[in-house]
Order: sequence, then C-alpha cells, then structure tokens
Amino acid sequence: MTEGKQSCRPDTLETTSGPTPCSFTVTRRDFLRTNAGAVAAGMMTGSGVATLVEPEAEAASQAQTPVSSPMAMRKVTLDIDDRKHDVTVDVRESLWETMNYKLGLSSSNLGCDRAQCGACTVLVDGRPVNGCTLLSARNGRGQKIVTVAGISSGPGVRGLHPVQRAFWLEGGFQCGICTRGFVMSTYALLERNNNPSREEIKDALSGNICRCGEYAKIITTVEKAAAEMRGEAVAYTAPLVGLEEAEDTAAPIGDTASMGFEFVTAMGTIEQFDELALELQQIPGIVRVSGTERTITVEWDTARLDEARVRQALTEAGYPVRP
Ligand code: FES
Ligand code: FES
Repeated sequence: MTEGKQSCRPDTLETTSGPTPCSFTVTRRDFLRTNAGAVAAGMMTGSGVATLVEPEAEAASQAQTPVSSPMAMRKVTLDIDDRKHDVTVDVRESLWETMNYKLGLSSSNLGCDRAQCGACTVLVDGRPVNGCTLLSARNGRGQKIVTVAGISSGPGVRGLHPVQRAFWLEGGFQCGICTRGFVMSTYALLERNNNPSREEIKDALSGNICRCGEYAKIITTVEKAAAEMRGEAVAYTAPLVGLEEAEDTAAPIGDTASMGFEFVTAMGTIEQFDELALELQQIPGIVRVSGTERTITVEWDTARLDEARVRQALTEAGYPVRP
C-alpha cells in the first residue's frame, strides 16, 4: 500500500500534487511536521479536515490563537445543593475543580484525583459519582448535584442529617479525608434502603477507600444511621454532652445574609482556612463559614453584623478580602 495515500472529496480538502484532484499524498514525516494533534482535533470536533500547512504560516496562526480557545469553553448552570450557579467552564474541567476554584464550594474533598478513592463523592440525580472525574460541562442540563452541605436540614447538631450525625457520634473516621465521600455514598444507600444488610453496606461503599482503615467503625456507623432513619432509638458510642442544651439556650438566629469574598492573598494550605473558620465562628452573629484557600463565604445574622463588620473581622484575623 502506498504510504499515506488517501481518497478524498475534492470540496473538503486542499490537495497537493497528485494524479487527480481527488487524492493527496501525506508522508509520515509530513504528517508529524504539520502537527498531528491539529489533524486529530479537526476530526474530533468536526471543525473540518486539516490540510497541510507551511510551518511559517502555522507559527503565525498560533501566535494569534488565544490560550483558551472559545471552542473549549461552555456556559453552564450547575444546580448544586438546590442553588443554581451560572459559570463558564473549560470542557476539560472536573466538577470538583469548578466547585472549589470557581464557585468557592469546598463541600467535597479531593483524594486521589483519579476516580479511585471516592473522597470526592457527590450525588448526581441521586447516584454517587466521583466529582474529580465528572466533567462540569456535561452537568449543566438540570442535573441535581448534592454534597454534604445539602443534606442537613438546619443549623447545629439537630440540623445534621442522621448519616452526618452518626459518622460524628459513632467516630466513623480518623483523619476525615474520606468522610464526606463515605457520608454521600451512605446517604445514597439509605435513601433507597434504610435497612441494608452488612453485605449491601459493603457493596454500596465499595467505591470509597479509607486510608486510615476505619472500615469496622464506618460499617457500624452506617447501621446506626439506618436505625435512626427507621425511627429507632440509637445509643451512640460518643453522644454529645451539653451541646444540644447549649443550642437551646443560644440566642435565636434572625434573618441572615451570605456573601462570598476573595482573599487578597491566597492561603498557603487549606489547614489555614480551618483555623480562620474556627476563629470567625467565635464572633457572635457569624452563622456559617465555608470556603477554600482563595475564597470564603460567610453567613451572618443581620441583626448583629453587616458586611463592613465581616470584612473588618477578616482583616483583623489576618486575611483581608478584595472589595
Ligand atoms: S479524589 Fe475523586 S476518586 Fe479520589
Ligand atoms: S479517616 Fe482517614 S482516610 Fe478515612
């Protein structure tokens, strides 16, 4: 067979010299010299069939090409925890990346980033999936995305979903990196079957890995969460002492406001964020804090605080935010 010889439609390809206008010859050297990737991209995107291009012309065209091609960007509306987020995403961007880097939602953890550990598990239309390998561009068509932040019913211990409460009070974790993923896989299981056998629990959690090896306690946790969801009385290994009473005597929360801010200087590690969140939660009127190394979302009681006071608190804590 003649090397690189192909037949073609004369109206879709430029031709090089050849016996007929409907054929052209590409040697392997030509192919590599003229950027095999461009040929493949043309085929994949249906943007036309690549033609042989002189190196100088190719360099000039690359110099004018923006780094992010509009072809690679999509506008989507992500429905996360019952809130709609309009965002422009790269078609190669994972849901975890969009949530953390663009939306400031840090309610799922990243472990392996390779669809192997389940730490990033979220639910899409009720099914547990790995947010690290799910493309955001394909999840803006009305799919319901749910994270651990979306399953509690209110503030405080009493607002926690039984699955969240069970993981906490039964100690179904050690370092906690895997916990949000286990919570979401457990939630998905118990929403469809609140009386699973041990085998069914193991099967439902088979996509989640705990590097601390807390499997025995995790399975007990799931069993206790299931019992609570069936309405049975449950005795946890480490029940809360005093905290629920403290919630009862705490000042009631009135209307709240929530706002996202971007730090002037990004934090070095997410552990710094945890320290900042703890500090802010000591301030009367701060209701909830979430965020990443780059952004923070603060919810506050409008009867006690306003935006200026929240900004001031962030500055005093050493993390000023952009106007
Ligand atoms: S971080 Fe997604 S599966 Fe490990
Ligand atoms: S608690 Fe550490 S990885 Fe599971």
